[in-house]
Amino acid sequence: MPMLDEHVRADPRILRVYLEARRRYGQAGLCHHNFGHVVRDTHRALVIAASEKGVDYSVLLPAVLLHDIGFCYPNWPEMGHDLAGARLAQEMLPALGYLAFEVAAIQHCITAHKGKAEAPASLEAKILYDADVLEKAGLFDLVILGLLMCEFSENLADCLARECRDRAEETARGFFTAKAREMDRGRLVRVGALLNEMRQEVSGPRRDFSLSETDLWREPPKEVLGKS
Ligand SMILES: [Fe+2]
Ligand SMILES: [Fe+2]
Repeated sequence: MPMLDEHVRADPRILRVYLEARRRYGQAGLCHHNFGHVVRDTHRALVIAASEKGVDYSVLLPAVLLHDIGFCYPNWPEMGHDLAGARLAQEMLPALGYLAFEVAAIQHCITAHKGKAEAPASLEAKILYDADVLEKAGLFDLVILGLLMCEFSENLADCLARECRDRAEETARGFFTAKAREMDRGRLVRVGALLNEMRQEVSGPRRDFSLSETDLWREPPKEVLGKS
């Protein structure tokens, strides 16, 4: 499998994107959507791409490196991190040497990486989508659940509600490449069932997992209300 060295030799701009992405994710310091996640996605994207013909790595690699950069954008919750990331990429890439048509191709990959704002239309967008979904296709998704609760400051019930919905949508959409299906080996479906089982337990008699601080009080004392 070609490593990053070869792609950087062929297109030195990729190194500029790599370093800028690493700096920005590092500054954000998020629990899950960090450079470690980007590194795993990059590895999977390279594995998948090695099984495809005609991949434009000058589009694919910047797209993978920047696909979650939207989480570094202050207003991302209003527009979604996929669209926020595409906007940030538009701001960053011309200064790193990218032409308008290349920026547009990279933006499409970033916008489509959740399969929601846009469906992946290009080969590079399909590879990025599959590489990113594979992150959650397996028992590692249970670890991610905890990281997301930490990153978004949310309780288990709320986190599970979103993640179960996302796994169901991803399962219905399916993978776009044969290599990703081979790497998944049915794990996405199995982990989706596991999350659903956990959600039933959490949303049933175990109300403790959906509590917030206000659920402990009928009338919170002013000292409690004043607490940040
Ligand atoms: Fe994402
Ligand atoms: Fe991601």
